[in-house]
Amino acid sequence: LLVDKGNHRHFMAKEIYEQPETISHTLSHYVDMGAERVAIREALPFDFAELTRLTMSACGTAYYAGAVAKYWFERYARLPVDIDVASEFRYREPPLAPGGLSLFISQSGETADTLAALRYCAGQGQHVASLVNTLESTIARESGVVFPILCGPEIGVASTKALTAQLTALASLAIAAGRARGALSEEQEAELVRELVRLPTAVSQALGTEAQIMDIAKRLSKAKDVLYLGRGPMYPIALEGALKLKEISYIHAEGYAAGELKHGPIALVDEDMPVIVIAPSDELVDKTLSNMQEVAARGGNIILITDKKGAETVGQDVADIILIPEVSSFVAPILATIPVQLLAYHTAVFMGTDVDQPRNLAKSVTVE
Ligand code: G6P
Repeated sequence: LLVDKGNHRHFMAKEIYEQPETISHTLSHYVDMGAERVAIREALPFDFAELTRLTMSACGTAYYAGAVAKYWFERYARLPVDIDVASEFRYREPPLAPGGLSLFISQSGETADTLAALRYCAGQGQHVASLVNTLESTIARESGVVFPILCGPEIGVASTKALTAQLTALASLAIAAGRARGALSEEQEAELVRELVRLPTAVSQALGTEAQIMDIAKRLSKAKDVLYLGRGPMYPIALEGALKLKEISYIHAEGYAAGELKHGPIALVDEDMPVIVIAPSDELVDKTLSNMQEVAARGGNIILITDKKGAETVGQDVADIILIPEVSSFVAPILATIPVQLLAYHTAVFMGTDVDQPRNLAKSVTVE
């Protein structure tokens, strides 16, 4: 299979820019756009309505996809969800009640810890499903049902388009579960599907922040430590932002739940540590913005990722506001991923690191 960088300097840039297309591709598999309904094509060996629990395991960025999906399955399907990194899950050997669904998220389908977690769950009589990019993989082969993410080969070691494809598929599955469980009406399903369908355009618009982000990244490249804050589904996006930055720029970064700021990281705040706040307008945005003011009051250097409504709330207080299109809180975590990827990418480009092949990292971790 021949994949080239096209006009891009790195595969990672190409893969970031492909996302309006790859998300559309994922959507065309999971959604019937005309009927405004979710369409699950895979034969399900379980009934969403009868599930007692959803247990997800994954590693790295795929784990953060599951962490966002936990909010969706709980909120839109009222399904109890557990999620853990596979390396912890497998050795914890948690008791699993009969009738549960275990879902494994893996771009490669070959991650050793995720595969071991899958085998453990299969042995515990769980329904086993996987969400993979590589259909001819071990994880896919050993699953009762395989959900494809269809984003095409991902070459950059730091995952980008696979994450947004995983999220798009998981969002669709959460709607399907919500409908089956009677937690969503037909009208609610149609509204959520419309939001998904609008996403590729919003992602294209969010990519338009690149010039501004290059400017911010130049300053970020001088930092020793960077803190990312988010609340609700933006919390895993904050974790992903920190992961992406350390993976490719080697700058130390941490993601934190905004509400935990007071319980530790606020002690680190000074003018030398940029704080990236991911807070598009949603039900809880005021809480996150008030956490942000606490950082500002201590001289913290804030970079706020939000939408127009969020920006109006904070007024002149923040020097750097990266504006993403206003979308519903349902799809906002997918959209917020875009500036987070661009920030890490351009910071790494300024640092002159090997963006596509960061030191010590592997695309697929097939040993423990
Ligand atoms: C490695 C890669 C990451 C990826 C993780 C999980 O650490 O560098 O980009 O998120 O493995 O990989 P998987 O193939 O299971 O999604």
